[in-house]
Amino acid sequence: MSYEKETRRRRTFAIISHPDAGKTTLTEKLLLFSGAIQIAGAVKGRKASRHATSDWMEIEKQRGISVASSVMQMSYRDHVINLLDTPGHKDFSEDTYRVLTAVDSALMVIDAANGVESQTRRLIEVCRQRDTPIITFVNKMDREVRDPLDILDEVERELGMPCCPVTWPVGQGKRFGGIINLRTQSMTVFAPGSEKRPQDFEVIPLAEADKLRARFGQTFDDALEAMELAQGASAEWDHAAFLAGKLTPVFFGSGVNNFGVMEVLDAVVDMSPPPGPRVSRLVGKSGQVTETVVRPEDPHFSGVVFKVQANMDANHRDRIAFVRVASGRYTPGMKLKVQRTGKELRPTSVVTFMSQRREAVEEAYAGDVIGFTTHGGVQLGDTVTDGVNLQFTGLPFFAPEMFCTVVLKNPLRTKQLQQGLQQLGEEGAIQVFKPEAGGNMLLGAVGQLQFEVVQHRLRTEYDAEVRLEPSQFTSARWISAESPEELKKFEAAYPMRMARDAANALAYMCTSPYDVRLAQERFPKITFHPLREHA
Ligand code: G4P
Repeated sequence: MSYEKETRRRRTFAIISHPDAGKTTLTEKLLLFSGAIQIAGAVKGRKASRHATSDWMEIEKQRGISVASSVMQMSYRDHVINLLDTPGHKDFSEDTYRVLTAVDSALMVIDAANGVESQTRRLIEVCRQRDTPIITFVNKMDREVRDPLDILDEVERELGMPCCPVTWPVGQGKRFGGIINLRTQSMTVFAPGSEKRPQDFEVIPLAEADKLRARFGQTFDDALEAMELAQGASAEWDHAAFLAGKLTPVFFGSGVNNFGVMEVLDAVVDMSPPPGPRVSRLVGKSGQVTETVVRPEDPHFSGVVFKVQANMDANHRDRIAFVRVASGRYTPGMKLKVQRTGKELRPTSVVTFMSQRREAVEEAYAGDVIGFTTHGGVQLGDTVTDGVNLQFTGLPFFAPEMFCTVVLKNPLRTKQLQQGLQQLGEEGAIQVFKPEAGGNMLLGAVGQLQFEVVQHRLRTEYDAEVRLEPSQFTSARWISAESPEELKKFEAAYPMRMARDAANALAYMCTSPYDVRLAQERFPKITFHPLREHA
């Protein structure tokens, strides 16, 4: 059976932005215009009280809500669009990076007043590493913002790739007249109001320049002049370059006013790629590697767990493993195998995510995301198949930038602590390192809030009260060597610095940035990895 038709009409993407740039607003509008939700406010509501509660309470709440809304599926113009949400808080950036491994393109939202901000910059880096195509949306043109030429220049510099404007703004703030669509050579006139529908906006062909001039005066002429400048200075549209992550189309608009949003939704359909092939790397018993290119339309079902999330109800230990389908078709009742363990996966339920609801999945193809409810046996990065032997790699774990030592208050709760740490480690909520020399477990995080969440969850979900004490370690590097002998020598030289993570990978713990350099000088044949890819 050929699944080509189904996979070709799929688009799977994530929105990346700095907090407050307008990601939530835009997400909601995309859902609204595709018909996935009926009323505005449904998505936004979840952020309503974001400043009213303490940080971890908020995280708890978001954790619950995001189970329902972290993947949103909609259909638009006979396409199936999967929008994957990324956590907003920078302390959870690791989660975001992993979500980015599950998408085929990204939509970058920037606040026209602030340009490219710090968190967006980090996300761009990840996209660039993977050559993920990026569509750029410059939001909040209804405000007093920066000169669009300036913004283009900054996006080019930050992204390290040329921009190609697809729409161009006429004025801004109080004088925001609308956007010129360079392709259709027409201007869509701006009108404020969040109840506006795309068809409500007036469109005037550029050929009627006199009419536009009469209406928008000098603002129109200035926009034309700037647009010509921009077109002269920027790249011609080149679809192949966009797909290769070497050029970004740029759109302007105002999300809150529903303006310029439809153009972006159309771009996702028309420009973004459908799911592509992935490489499976199977390592045999004697170490030989078999590489296979897995195409989305291949008949065997396969997918990767890119996110594991505990259910909101702390009394139930079940978790949802989010699987991005890489090939084939999932149908209910299908037997599934976890490649890492060779074991059969017996999910209690398998769901798909329709904007705000979870529904029993009927079928899923490459590009789709399905959620398995499980009681264990699945880890982040696991490859799940219908039985065929495949192993995808590439789910990144970043070297933690801060460490704590875990001290259990009641020693009788050791078993609970171990179980808790293992499960939280499997979820990717924290990284757990076990010192080779023995002693207390080490927790590694990228953001401070991760520690607070883990401490809180150990108490509420595992009944294990812990104290987190500062650790002398400030960083870690996973290590590998050209030969086992070389690795042994290294381990013998630094016995107190060796630790193993949840996947049993060996790491060298550092106390200062110079450690790695010194160790490298002493052991030139050892490789220090700041990032571990799940194998
Ligand atoms: P985020 O998810 O990226 O954090 O951003 P979010 O959509 O929550 O938007 C952040 C703020 O920016 C919100 O205002 C939102 O209304 C506003 N906003 C989004 N798009 C536009 C736009 O095109 N123009 C203008 N002027 N504002 C925009 P808030 O005051 O924080 O929340 P609210 O009270 O408006 O809900």
